[in-house]
Amino acid sequence: MKKVITYGTFDMLHFGHINILKRAKALGDYLIVGVTSDLYDLERGKLNVKNSLSERIEAVRATGLADEIIIEEYDGQKILDIKKYNIDIFAIGSDWIGMFDYIKEYCEVVYLERTRGISSTQLRIKDNKCVRIGIIGCGRIAKRFVSESKYVSGINIEGVFNPNIKSAEAFKKEYELNFATDNIKDFFEKIDAVYIASPHATHYDYIIKSLNAGKHTLCEKPLVLTEQEAIDVYKLARENDLVLMEALKTAYCPGFEHLIVLAKCGKIGDIKDVEASFTKLVTGNVRELKKSMNGGSINELSTYVFLPILKLLGMNYEKVEFFSFMQNGIDLFTKGIFKYNNATASFKVGLGVKTEGSLVISGTKGYIYVPAPWWKTEYFEIRYENPNNTDKYFYKFKGDGLRYELVSFINSIYYNKKDKLSLSEEESIEFAKLIELYHINMSKSI
Ligand code: CTP
Repeated sequence: MKKVITYGTFDMLHFGHINILKRAKALGDYLIVGVTSDLYDLERGKLNVKNSLSERIEAVRATGLADEIIIEEYDGQKILDIKKYNIDIFAIGSDWIGMFDYIKEYCEVVYLERTRGISSTQLRIKDNKCVRIGIIGCGRIAKRFVSESKYVSGINIEGVFNPNIKSAEAFKKEYELNFATDNIKDFFEKIDAVYIASPHATHYDYIIKSLNAGKHTLCEKPLVLTEQEAIDVYKLARENDLVLMEALKTAYCPGFEHLIVLAKCGKIGDIKDVEASFTKLVTGNVRELKKSMNGGSINELSTYVFLPILKLLGMNYEKVEFFSFMQNGIDLFTKGIFKYNNATASFKVGLGVKTEGSLVISGTKGYIYVPAPWWKTEYFEIRYENPNNTDKYFYKFKGDGLRYELVSFINSIYYNKKDKLSLSEEESIEFAKLIELYHINMSKSI
């Protein structure tokens, strides 16, 4: 009996898929189809797959062409599958020509002609139409955002707004966008959604303008600098039925999301303490070090460390205290302590002091250790009293990681549902409240 194997995501199953399954089946007597797992797709950069793994498996099963369906979960699995299932032929579409020649050592490799004019990507876009995004602000993060957006299907970065038209023009030219403008009304007319990457103090105003213009809005952290402003903007988003999201990349990356789920499901017992640090030494004439630009460690970095604390211990803390090393009116380093009814948490953030950037979550049965840079979660360990019981977890954090927040933003728009698991409105409002509290406390102590 001749056994054939083929692999794919098979999202939104289409006739291109059916054709390839038919052709693959015709090569032998028994066809095994490997369907990629959700996590594997995320890891290899296929970010906005629409159907879940079980839906995709069901769709392949319903074609009646597969004699057996398996799940593809990691790089390198194909060779192991070929051995395990005694495969004679590995078949794949012609879009992969040459890429699987390394398998020829183990079995015959056949590249089958791909059906023209159809793909899951096209269907995903057609179903929902491409979201045209405009950027406000042209700083470092905006540049990274444009580069990262290439990995997300269903969107196009159309143009940029900046009150300084020269900066806008230069940005447009560098990233080959369709337009640059210093006229906010024109800007809103050409787009469906906005990414705000302007100086912190301008966020509130731009968010209000964007929501009033009927645009879904993704805004860099810190979203705003006071609790009331945060309450206002989320209320406005709800009233206008628009998506408003704080762009805190860690919250949306697969490794961090899994870490939170594992910690919450009792793997380390009851959580009693969270310690999170994020320091980044910066020098020179930069925004981060300027009081006039709302610089300082808390404004720049605190949302990262508040994220695991609030996600794991909640927002009902009894007390929070801050201790800072100040220079030229900004905090170059801040240490903070939270007291909860039944737990504690502490954090360190710094722009002028360097420390170990790890995250440690302590529980009654064990603890989770995430080494620096934990905010780009790629690896962590769950450790117990007996070191032999340590569990190790590995993930991919691709590029600058902004692609994950962008996928969440686009999916929220497409499917009209909020990504509460990653970052809720309440958590985002609490970030603003804590930042405001910090500034009130510090101004009192001076
Ligand atoms: N395939 C094909 N003809 C198409 C689309 C896909 O022959 N028009 C083949 C691919 O070459 C692959 C298999 O179907 O062997 C599964 O591909 P998959 O990546 O799931 O499908 P795409 O439609 O290409 O998905 P995407 O747009 O997400 O890349």
